[in-house]
Amino acid sequence: MNSPDLLVVGSGFFGLTIAEQAAAAGLRVTVIERRSHVGGNAYSEPEPSTGIEVHRYGAHLFHTSNEKVWAYANRFTAFTPYVHRVYTTHNGEVFPLPINLGTINQFFRAAHSPASARDLIAELASEFDAATAQSLEEKGVALIGRPLYEAFIAGYTAKQWQTPASELPASVISRLPVRYTYDNRYFNDTHEGLPVDGYTAWLERMADHPNIEVRLDTDFFDESQPLNKRAVVGQLPIVYTGPLDRYFEFEAGPLSWRTLDFEQEVLPVGDFQGTPVMNFADLDVPYTRIHEFRHFHPEREWYPDDRTVIVREYSRFADQGDEPYYPVNTPTDRQRLLAYRELTEAEKGVVFGGRLGTYQYLDMHMAIGAALSTWENKLRLSTN
Ligand code: FDA
Repeated sequence: MNSPDLLVVGSGFFGLTIAEQAAAAGLRVTVIERRSHVGGNAYSEPEPSTGIEVHRYGAHLFHTSNEKVWAYANRFTAFTPYVHRVYTTHNGEVFPLPINLGTINQFFRAAHSPASARDLIAELASEFDAATAQSLEEKGVALIGRPLYEAFIAGYTAKQWQTPASELPASVISRLPVRYTYDNRYFNDTHEGLPVDGYTAWLERMADHPNIEVRLDTDFFDESQPLNKRAVVGQLPIVYTGPLDRYFEFEAGPLSWRTLDFEQEVLPVGDFQGTPVMNFADLDVPYTRIHEFRHFHPEREWYPDDRTVIVREYSRFADQGDEPYYPVNTPTDRQRLLAYRELTEAEKGVVFGGRLGTYQYLDMHMAIGAALSTWENKLRLSTN
């Protein structure tokens, strides 16, 4: 076997950033990917009958205040001026999110100024002390008061976690942002936008280098393929971005995740909901939100005006075999994570990275930023 200078397991943003940096530094890199496409969870593809770009593993909005990451991303794609905004339906009425002066005034049928809205929320929030709150419910009420908490947080969170909010730990939320202006821009970052010709084009450009070979449909643990774990660990440097517990054959126990189910439909209307994302705050609607993908790219004039693609999103705990999406992070998970961290320290020649390899939620800009510093600080010198 003609072995590469570096093996990268997984072709998400973390793996491809490492591969791109290493290839540019002159190393021969092989990327193996279990799925039949590159890109990890940021992968997107056109829905075949409409051409509307759908994010296959959940909606992905790019935003960052990290100038280095922004400059790096712009080497592979231009961005549209898209600005993310989210609305929520409660009791048959649509409200803007994150909770802002518009939400408060609509909810209370009032015309509060920023100052009087602050006073109102402070008074409503005095029922519990956030510092000593025992449950998510107590914490939520302590942060924004019972009326807003019950309308916008309780049902939505209970659906996300399949558990009543009164039984969830307070640690599930650290803060609930309330804006005392009418600004309902979702992200506060300096830079925001969507890749002009889609995520997959961006990710494929990162892998497009003569020193990079990508092998799709190739599982690191499949011993019938030559670059499998047993054959290569200790033989060449490896960056592993798959699930941490799977690497160590669940030695310290499985780490728990939430997963999502997506129900996609093509509808014979030009516009279904008038906005990219509608949350559903109430328990009587079983899904958490609906994405209508055409609205992510209003500039694409070629999208049909008589059909649209919507995706309903449902949230649940992941079983074995489900796609892991969000770390649950129970006290048991945190204990196990410590045990796995010790194991990773002892695993010489393997760098663990990305959201699955470190068991943490990472936005795309964080995965790219972490990969750039992992390359710079851990790999560049050791692989030269
Ligand atoms: P990622 O999971 O993308 O890649 C890991 C790759 O490793 C996968 O392709 C997997 O198939 C492969 N792999 C695993 N095991 C393997 C094995 N044994 N052999 C070979 N390959 C293997 N971020 C953001 O900035 N804005 C947003 O709006 C969103 N939205 C969003 C929605 C949802 C539902 C989720 C779950 C996540 C987001 N994100 C996000 C986060 C974003 O998805 C995340 O930052 C990137 O996926 C991180 O890239 P990684 O490379 O770390 O993992």
